[in-house]
Amino acid sequence: MAKVKTTFFCQNCGAQYAKWQGQCNSCKSWNTIVEEVVQKEDKNSWKASTSKSSKRVSKPMLINEIDSTKETRIQTTDLEFNRVLGGGIVPGSLTLLGGEPGIGKSTLLLQVALNLPYKTLYVSGEESQKQIKMRAERVNPNNSNCYILTETKTQNIFKQIETLEPDIVVIDSIQTLHSDYIESSAGSISQIKECTSELMKFAKETSTPVVLIGHITKDGHIAGPKILEHMVDTVLQFEGDRNHVFRILRANKNRFGSTNELGIYEMQGSGLREVSNPSEVLISKKDEELSGNAIAVTLEGMRPLLIEVQALVSTAVYGTPQRSATGFNAKRLNMLLAVLEKRAGFRLGAKDVFLNITGGITVDDPAIDLAVIAAILSSNEDEALQKDFCFAAEVGLSGEIRPVQRVEQRILEAEKLGYNAIFISKYNTISLKNTAIRIQKISKIEDLVRFLT
Ligand code: TYD
Ligand code: MG
Repeated sequence: MAKVKTTFFCQNCGAQYAKWQGQCNSCKSWNTIVEEVVQKEDKNSWKASTSKSSKRVSKPMLINEIDSTKETRIQTTDLEFNRVLGGGIVPGSLTLLGGEPGIGKSTLLLQVALNLPYKTLYVSGEESQKQIKMRAERVNPNNSNCYILTETKTQNIFKQIETLEPDIVVIDSIQTLHSDYIESSAGSISQIKECTSELMKFAKETSTPVVLIGHITKDGHIAGPKILEHMVDTVLQFEGDRNHVFRILRANKNRFGSTNELGIYEMQGSGLREVSNPSEVLISKKDEELSGNAIAVTLEGMRPLLIEVQALVSTAVYGTPQRSATGFNAKRLNMLLAVLEKRAGFRLGAKDVFLNITGGITVDDPAIDLAVIAAILSSNEDEALQKDFCFAAEVGLSGEIRPVQRVEQRILEAEKLGYNAIFISKYNTISLKNTAIRIQKISKIEDLVRFLT
C-alpha cells in the first residue's frame, strides 16, 4: 500500500506547513490550519502526458519580432459578458467567476453556454442533469450545441473532453471537483489547487477556454487559497443584493482587458437579462417630488450611469447620533457631514443621518459627493430638490467643489435622459456647445446652498 502523505494547510490563506500549529504565520488567523491528505503517485493524467512539452526551452526574442496578430476572441451573445472580459473570451484562457450563493452564477454561465454557436461542455458537480435541463428550459429552451456532464473527478472530465472535443468548457464549481492524485476531500485547499492547475494545463495546451465557478466565503473572498486568483487569467465577481433584482458583473483581475468595465443584469423569471440602459432602471420615476432624493451622475467603468441617492436626516433619539450608509463609504459620509457642518454652518451633530444608494449597488466614484450633500441638505430642510436636477462633482475638505473626470460624457448622458440642469465644478473645463441641459458651475458648498434654497 502506498504511504499516505499529509500536509497542513491554512484554510484561510493556503499557506502550507509540515506540522500543525495554532496560528498561521502568514495570515495570522487562529485555528485555520487543517491536516489534508496529499498523496502523489506517478501521474498519467493530463499533466503527465503533457509534461514532455514543458521541457521545451523558450528563447529570448526581440519584442519587435514577436507576432502580435490580434487573438480572435470568442464572442458570446451576451454583450455585457463580452465587455467585462475585454471583448469576448480569449482562447486558452482560464476565467474564474466568483459570487455569493444564489446570486446567479450558474444561471449566467449556463445562459452564455446555451447561446454560444460553438460546442460547449457544461460540467456540473452541484446539480443533476435534470435540474440543469429545468433551468435551461427557463432561460432558453432550444439549443443543441451545449453538452451537460455531471461529474466531479477531473480525470473523468478529461476523458469526456477528449472524446467530445468541446470549444469551451464551463466548470460549476471548482470546489466540487476532486483529483485522484490528492486524497483530501473535495473543496479542500490542496484539491482546489490541484484541480485548477490541471485545468489550467488543459486550457493552455489545447487553447480551449475554461470558465470556473468559485464559491466565496463569508467575507467576500473566493473560497480557497489566494493562489487560485493568481493562477487564473481573469477573476470576475458577480455581485448585487439578493433582494434586489440587479446583478453586477465586474472584473477584479483581467490579463486581457481593463478591469474598469462593468456589466449590469436584471434577474427575471426567465433568467438574467442584460440591462443596456442602466440609468433608466436605477432611477425611480416618481411623479411627486420627495425630499432627500438627489440624482448623481457617476461613471461605472467607461459608462456614465445615473443613480439616485437618498438621505434621511432626523433628530437623534439617543445620545450619539447614528450615521449609516448603504452603498456608500461610511467614512466618506462622516467626512462630508463634517464639511457641511464647518463650511455651511449646518448643525448636524444632533441628527441621525441615513444614506442609501438605490438599486442595491455600491458606488465609490467621488463624483457622487455633491449629490450626497444635496440629498442631505434636502432632507434636513424637508424640501424636495427639483426633479430635473442632477449632480457630478467631488467635494473637498474645505468645502470646495472639485472637478471630476469625463465630465462631458456625464453631461451628455444626463441630457439624453431629459435632465434640465447639471451641477458641476467651476474648474471642469468643457468644450460642449449648445447643450439643451443647463450646466451650472459652482465652486463652493455655499454656492450649492444658495441655488437650492
Ligand atoms: P443560481 O444561478 O443557481 O445561483 P448560484 O449558481 O450563483 O448559486 O441562481 C439561483 C437564483 O436565481 C435562484 O434564487 C432563483 C433565481 N432565478 C430566477 O429568478 N430566474 C431564473 O430564470 C433562474 C434560472 C433563476
Ligand atoms: Mg450554482
